[in-house]
Order: sequence, then C-alpha cells, then structure tokens
Amino acid sequence: MSAPTGVAIIRRLPALAITLYAEVMPSTTNDWSTTSWRSRRVHQSPAWPDAEHLERVERQLAAKPPLVFAGEARRLQQHLGDVARGRAFLLQAGDCAESFDEGSADAIRDKLKVILQMAVALTYAAGVPVIKVGRIAGQFAKPRSDDYEERDGVRLEAFRGHIVNSDEFTASGRRPDPDRLLAAYHQSVATLNLLRAFTTGGFAALSRVHAWNQEFVANSLEGKRYAMIADEIERALQFMRACGIDLHDDSALQGVEFYTSHEALILPYEQALTRRDSLTGDWYDCSAHMLWIGDRTRQLDGAHVEFLRGVSNPLGLKVGPSMGVDELRRLVDVLNPANVAGRLTLISRMGVEQIGRALPPLVEAMRDDERNVVWACDPMHGNTFRVVGGQKTRHFDDVLAETAQFFGVHQELGTWPGGLHIELTGDDVTECLGGGSRLDESDLELNYTTICDPRLNATQSLDLAFHVSEFLQNYASTNGARSL
Ligand code: PEP
Ligand code: CO
Repeated sequence: MSAPTGVAIIRRLPALAITLYAEVMPSTTNDWSTTSWRSRRVHQSPAWPDAEHLERVERQLAAKPPLVFAGEARRLQQHLGDVARGRAFLLQAGDCAESFDEGSADAIRDKLKVILQMAVALTYAAGVPVIKVGRIAGQFAKPRSDDYEERDGVRLEAFRGHIVNSDEFTASGRRPDPDRLLAAYHQSVATLNLLRAFTTGGFAALSRVHAWNQEFVANSLEGKRYAMIADEIERALQFMRACGIDLHDDSALQGVEFYTSHEALILPYEQALTRRDSLTGDWYDCSAHMLWIGDRTRQLDGAHVEFLRGVSNPLGLKVGPSMGVDELRRLVDVLNPANVAGRLTLISRMGVEQIGRALPPLVEAMRDDERNVVWACDPMHGNTFRVVGGQKTRHFDDVLAETAQFFGVHQELGTWPGGLHIELTGDDVTECLGGGSRLDESDLELNYTTICDPRLNATQSLDLAFHVSEFLQNYASTNGARSL
C-alpha cells in the first residue's frame, strides 16, 4: 500500500480527530453497555493467570440471584437526595477490607451495633436523620500502591483483598484465583441475609438502644455518655407508651434502614451482577446498593468510570488531594449528567495536611456550578502511616482534625457537610492511636487484626460520633436552621 498523500491525510483528519477524542473521552450514555468498560484501560486489575477460568466464573455469577434490588438502590438515592439538600447526614462505615476468615454472626452484629450507636449519637445530639450505609457485604477488593510486596528478599504479588488472593505471603496464596469471586458472592449473601434479619427482626428496634452498648465500650467515658442518651431515649419511649401510642405500629422505631456499599474495583464481578430493572429498564449493579470509585481508579478515560456511569445505583467518588477543579467537573459531568441529587457522593480524603489547600476550590466549584452532590468526609485514607515496628496506623487526632476542617470548609462556603465515611470494626482492636481508648504505639500489637488498613475500634468510633454531633450542632447554630 502506498503512503497516503497530504490531501488524503487532510481528508482523514476529522475521522482521526474523532478516534483520538473517543480514546481520551468517555463515550456518551448511548453507547454504554455492561461490557463497554472492556475497551478501556483497567487500572488496578489483578493479573488473572487463567482467562478461561475467569470467564467460567463470570458466567456462573451472572446466573446467580441479585444481592440487592433496584428499588432499594433507588430508595437509598432518594435518601441521599435529602443529604444533598442538607436535610440528612450520611454515615458510611465498615471494614477497610472484609475477610473470608471473619464473617461470623458475632462480628457482623458487633459492627452493626457500633454503627447504630454512632447513628443514635448523631441523631440525638444534632437532630438530623442519619442515612446508614455499611462498607459491608461486598467490600473485599483493595487497590494497591505497589503491584508487588517484598519481604526478606522475596518478591510476590501484592495482596488485593480476599476476592482476588490471600493475605498469606506465599506464592500460591498470592496467585489471583477467580473462584474467590464466587466465595465473595456467597459471603456477601450470608452477610446481607444476617443484616436484613438484624435490622428488621427486632435487634435494631429503638427500645433496644441500651443493648448496642458493648461491655468494653460501656466502661469508657464515651460508653457512659452513650448510656445517658440511651436512658433519655428509653424515657421518651416509655412516655409515648404511657400516652397510649402503639410503638409496634411504627416501623421507624422497630427497625432501621441499612444499606450496603463497596468499592467497585473488580469489574468482572460487578458486570456479572449487573441486571436490567424490569420496572424502569435501567441497569443496576445488584452487588450492593451503592458503589464507589476509588482514588486510584477514577481516571476519566478509565474502565471504572466507564462502567459505573452506566449503572443507575447511587455512586461515590473518592476525591484525593491530586484532584483538579476541571477534572472534578468533567467527572461529575460523566457520572451525573442529569444533575440528580443523591446520585453522586463526593468523598473527600485529603489528609489533615492537605485538606485546607485542596478541598475549598473543589467545594466552591461544585457550589458555583449548582451541582447537586453530597459531600462526605473520609478522614482515614489521607492519614495513614507506618510505625517503626512496621504496622500501619492512624492517629485519632489526625482523623478528628481532618473532620473538623471538613466541617470548617463547608461552614465557610455555606455548603452542607453531608457525611462521614470511616473504617471501623465492632471489636476491641488496637489499630488506630489515641481517641476514646487512649492507645499508644506500644498497644498496637495487643489486638491488631485488620487485613488491610487500621480501623477505629468501637470506643474510638463513638468518640468520633460525639465530636461530629458537636460539629453538626455548631454548623446549625452558625448557619441557621437552613440545613436541619
Ligand atoms: C478505601 O476506601 O478503602 C480506599 C482504598 O480508599 P481510597 O480509594 O480513597 O484510597
Ligand atoms: Co482502607
């Protein structure tokens, strides 16, 4: 074939421009499909050693029942719409990474207890409805800064969460195994089944508010403060009963609405659980009610943004310190083109050193553009460091200081500090320093059980909730009752 002449090249320029544009820009919703992400670069993808095995598992998963229903995801989006409008507060919390070795009923119950306690503290002190979303029943995948991990001169693939490989440092353990996608699905089914039973079957009834205070928490200052609120709530319920109000009639007193979420990282898994809703004809990723895009997979032209823009679940987008204003605008254009309130939650995770510089221009731009987004604060992921002994940890004071600054920025700009996104567990772990449990570095080894990032224990979580209640009260008194 002869080389094209200059004229021929000029004639081909528009087509060339379109090709280039298509390569750098996400396509429009019309040409979205459940597989369109496959032509994009998949960041943080494990090197699956056996493609056929993976495809077989994907087919098996695609034939399984959905974990959640589209109608539930729509209801959560409505609640998040209230958050976007400043009428409710989002509490999103749970493990950094759920473990295949730790799905016991007790562990799930205790995690739920601490989330319910936090919600009570927030609702009671600040008078704001709290939308409860767990990082649970699917939070199995981890993005990693390095593809490999080295110990004593041995180099193996990094641990990417139990949905991909084992945390054991052996060559076979670290090999990505597609059967783990099925195991993750089954553990999510079991977890969600129990959560549904706990949240609707009496355990979460407000009359049991005292029972959520675990023994080791009850003895702390925070536990005592919680018990005082619980006493007052009990007295209020007794008063209502004495007035002849039948509390059994009110579903809001008998149970809680609890939603699930995870980072949508392993796209073959997410695609396999994506179904078309028979009612609306829209696509929903039925692996969880809400899915979020991590700070390492939020490239505008990447596979994760491409996949998630086409599903109708409420979405989260992690917003780290490298996010630019224009970049955020373009991401919001793609992920929430109709500017629907509740569709998109921007989860700021800047770190205590960076938030003062990095967050205000982004919040200001969203405000000035009149973008209906929820702003939530993840004060965990920008504040991780390693102690000399080697464990990863976070200081409660940093977590608190970043949260305080988040509220300060919103107060200053007149926008609504809509939510808190944290990593916690119901156990008495020793993974984060300071806070209600007053842990120091020498305590870390006592009960350090996370398979990924350090989590707040139940006492530290409650401590944070009381501080956030105060921030919310201050916000209401400074900005007037506009938002509450
Ligand atoms: C996470 O939320 O566990 C996580 C990895 O966060 P980020 O993408 O913000 O680093
Ligand atoms: Co984490």
